Amino acid sequence: MPLRCKTAILISGTGTNLQAFIDLANDGQLALDLSVVFSNRPDAYGLVRARNAGIATACLEHGKFADRESFDSAVAAELANWKPDLLILAGFMRILSAGFVERYAGRILNIHPALLPLHPGLDTHQRVLDAGDAWHGSTVHFVTKELDAGPGILQGRLAVNPQESAEQLAARVQMIEHQIYPQAANWVASGRVECRDGQTWIDGQLSAEPVVKTF
Ligand code: GAR
Repeated sequence: MPLRCKTAILISGTGTNLQAFIDLANDGQLALDLSVVFSNRPDAYGLVRARNAGIATACLEHGKFADRESFDSAVAAELANWKPDLLILAGFMRILSAGFVERYAGRILNIHPALLPLHPGLDTHQRVLDAGDAWHGSTVHFVTKELDAGPGILQGRLAVNPQESAEQLAARVQMIEHQIYPQAANWVASGRVECRDGQTWIDGQLSAEPVVKTF
């Protein structure tokens, strides 16, 4: 990654993860240049957070496109205006087409609210409670063509309290996300972590498992 890692953050909603990146950037602790925040929803509150922080915004509504491929092509064309080195999916609730992923191979990060490979997909917090899992958390990973299956970088985990609600669990997981996502992105931006041939390399070593932090 170049010294000034130009970054696009893609969102669909509230943008609390985006806010964590903005706050660290303001504290001078982010190795990324936040070039643009892109949303597929014009009412996403994350767009307000970006504007308040003086970051450029862009929005294309997926519903206005005939299919996934044409939407993704338009997103790629829009993002090309900023020539991003890295894409950060922060609550971007769209599945990306294979062509889009290939275009940015090894340069797209996602955060998923589960200890992947456990619980890909939606409603992870309720599914964790229903399954009686002892541990839950969130995973930062490189994006590949398979949904929520790309090689992991960093996981934050916590012990599940079986008495808590899915909402309480979600709130605790989000606190973790705000710490591990910027940390993992800093590792990638600084070249400590790379995706090569669909696998994660950390400090020049092949890493079959993500780094795990217990909170
Ligand atoms: C985050 O918890 C993130 O893990 C999840 O969406 C939330 C966005 O919150 N992402 C996914 O579920 C992707 N499959 P935020 O808008 O407050 O950052």
